[in-house]
Amino acid sequence: MSASPIADRWIVLKFGGTSVSRRHRWNTIGELAKKRADETGGRVLVVVSALSGVTNELTAIADGAADSRARVAALVARHNEFLAELELGEEVLAHRLAALQALLDDPRAASRPLDWQADVLGQGELLSSSVGAAYLRSNGLDFGWMDAREWLHALPPAPNQTAWSQRLSVNCKWQGEADFKQRFSAQPTRMLISQGFIARHEDGGTAILGRGGSDTSAAYFGALLGASRVEIWTDVPGMFSANPKDVPDARLLTRLDYYEAQEIATTGAKVLHPRSIKPCRDAGVPMAILDTERPHMPGTSIDGSAEPVPGVKAISRRNGIVLVSMEGIGMWQQVGFLSDVFNLFKKHGLSVDLIGSAETNVTVSLDPSENLVNTDVLAALSADLSEICKVKVIVPCAAITLVGRGMRSLLYKLSDVWATFGKERVHMISQSSNDLNLTFVIDEADADGLLPILHSELIDSGAMPVYEEQVFGPRWREIIGSIRPRQTPWWQAPGKRQKLLELAAVGTPAYIYDLDKVRERARQLKAIGAIDRRYYAIKANSHPEILRTLAAEGFGLECVSQGEVEMVFASVPGMPAERVLFTPSFAPISEYQAVLARGVTVTVDNVELLQRWPEVFRGRALWLRIDLGHGDGHHKKVNTGGKDSKFGLSALRVDEFIAAARALDIRITGVHAHLGSGIENSGHWKQMVDEMAGFARRIGSVEILDIGGGLPVPYSDDDEPFDLDAWAAGLAEIKAVHPAFQLAIEPGRFMVAESGVLLTHATQVVEKDGVRRVGLDAGMNALLRPALYDAWHDIANLSRLDDARDVDFSVVGPICESSDVFAQRVKLPATTMPEDVMLIADAGAYGFSMASTYNQRALPREDFIDA
Ligand code: LLP
Repeated sequence: MSASPIADRWIVLKFGGTSVSRRHRWNTIGELAKKRADETGGRVLVVVSALSGVTNELTAIADGAADSRARVAALVARHNEFLAELELGEEVLAHRLAALQALLDDPRAASRPLDWQADVLGQGELLSSSVGAAYLRSNGLDFGWMDAREWLHALPPAPNQTAWSQRLSVNCKWQGEADFKQRFSAQPTRMLISQGFIARHEDGGTAILGRGGSDTSAAYFGALLGASRVEIWTDVPGMFSANPKDVPDARLLTRLDYYEAQEIATTGAKVLHPRSIKPCRDAGVPMAILDTERPHMPGTSIDGSAEPVPGVKAISRRNGIVLVSMEGIGMWQQVGFLSDVFNLFKKHGLSVDLIGSAETNVTVSLDPSENLVNTDVLAALSADLSEICKVKVIVPCAAITLVGRGMRSLLYKLSDVWATFGKERVHMISQSSNDLNLTFVIDEADADGLLPILHSELIDSGAMPVYEEQVFGPRWREIIGSIRPRQTPWWQAPGKRQKLLELAAVGTPAYIYDLDKVRERARQLKAIGAIDRRYYAIKANSHPEILRTLAAEGFGLECVSQGEVEMVFASVPGMPAERVLFTPSFAPISEYQAVLARGVTVTVDNVELLQRWPEVFRGRALWLRIDLGHGDGHHKKVNTGGKDSKFGLSALRVDEFIAAARALDIRITGVHAHLGSGIENSGHWKQMVDEMAGFARRIGSVEILDIGGGLPVPYSDDDEPFDLDAWAAGLAEIKAVHPAFQLAIEPGRFMVAESGVLLTHATQVVEKDGVRRVGLDAGMNALLRPALYDAWHDIANLSRLDDARDVDFSVVGPICESSDVFAQRVKLPATTMPEDVMLIADAGAYGFSMASTYNQRALPREDFIDA
């Protein structure tokens, strides 16, 4: 009876160390292999790494560690324990473990030649694959076991290869083996398991593929078999736009082309070995990176068939970079200088990563992951180089690399990135000739904390097109479930929505405020025990109903102009003057006089004021606004701290201020600081309290520390609600350190942003050169934030709230300015049409209060809902 022919369509699945170290993971491996075989009707090759940690142990043994026998004994015990966990008998591995032990008694063990080291290193995969085959078979799966060395053959040594890499970091043949697939497919079982990392050396011994070699083994097998796919199963969900450990907001990259993936793997991502991509790319075999713990996730697909998407896909950091700067006297146009220099690098076995050159200087970088760059090698290199030029070695450096298609055409979007690097000392900038990478080399210490900032700048500037859904998947924090979700907006509730549609019919554009939301925010802040006084910064929104609502909640009101002070007294009957603050900036002196006359607490922020108008301030109790020397905020235009800011008394002039105040019999009862608006970092205020308390003690008479506003709100799905609990805990902690002072806050945005919506009607819906635009009857005159700060506001079609939001629109206004754009790429129903009621969300703060009549367009209406 002849066996029915088994198909020869192959899929290769590779599992790394953590994926093969636990029983439940082997269950997953078995399930996945079977599923793939069933789905494709083809055959599956599983390639495995050693159990996690085993290769490190074997490396120590191969390196001749003194306690090698103990290490081998521990490895034997570990594998036997694992067999027990899998309910397999010790006989499964008996001969393999004996072979491992025998290597210590091998005559070669004394001198540890490279072929012996390769034999030692290769044991981990032989063991793990043998365990796996036995376990999978015991689960009734039809698995065959194969020695990878029978199939993967190391290439003959290349001319410049060291003896070490000829044995322990080999490349394998993967082309021109026409009958490989046929021979391989002749194996009797449908599913096979084999080892990563090992291959056959020309001399018949074992060769090693180098660190991360299992990925490469899978890729070789995939290429040799013309597999339909090579899947790399690992313990992360794929490649990310940055290392999630540094940047929790990094996005999963769901689809890349081979070249981008290669560049990302080479410049940082550890998830896929860079060598593994080329064989698949040349053989046209698609690759995927998938997560064994989260097999449902899409992972990263790498192939050549997708239309390339321009833009930065990832940012990475490599540490330990060595820069060698070579200054050549009269080097310009000197024949052979570069060749002389590079010959010396070759002589010391160093491969150069980046190169920068100037008229008299060549600087190169060495990447430690590609090179053995210890101090001896560098000293020897320097000695040789100093014969032909002046050498300077700069260490330790970090290389920060932006990877993506078309870097050159993206440069204009990178102004914030350049500005951020501008604050550091950049030793070298290098742009790769394949236009896929832009690298900045800076001091390692300067790189700390930089990646999250750069990552968000890349997104904000549009250089990293995270809206391209076929490329950018969820954020890491979403994947691990550590995101605090945004509340469902109040205006989506059917009753509120109906009410808004009625209000829109009265006339648009119209700002509508939900007073319940204002109260909710007020009560959240009232519940925070560490805060003694709460003021509302009315510049955010001075609608009388909002002022009355917050005053009724016990908030004082903070004003920046005499006009705002008048507005407060006119809107809130009986508002006590002591609950009103006046915190002006460069206001006319007449405003100070008028406001002081009303008994309002005035904050001053410079000495010149006291010097020029001593009589206005003599004998008063005042607050002092100090510039703490640093600022923050959602945009540089709202950063109000530091040398470049016009706000606050310089810390260097505090003593001068104290003396001037004393001379005028002025009592400084409060210290004030506000360093910016929309600050995401909840530790910011805690730090402020600490710094301000120092000044307050110096001044002596201070009772209150006012730490300003600045609390952020989540404007987009990508933003999280502010972590009030962390904020409150930080304040309580620092207040306990400085119990002498009361704490005051004066938020604006946080109180009102989410309470307000801007209702408009669509005017026209137009398609132009592939871009769909919907025009509104409100423009940048009604809501300036997008034009001024590139601020994001969600936009919805309130008339068609239940329709699928399936088409990208650019949403624009009727103002004669190119910046009159509310947002690009807003998903709206395809059916959106003129007269629809369109809603711009979270517009309660700095909306109406910044509106103008530009182009002779009337100010928006204002109304409120108080259900
Ligand atoms: N206190 C002082 C002294 C301020 O200057 C400000 C805001 C606040 C408190 C309230 O800050 P908030 O909690 O709202 O962040 N138009 C910009 C915001 C400018 C903020 C000006 N000062 C925007 O729409 O983002």
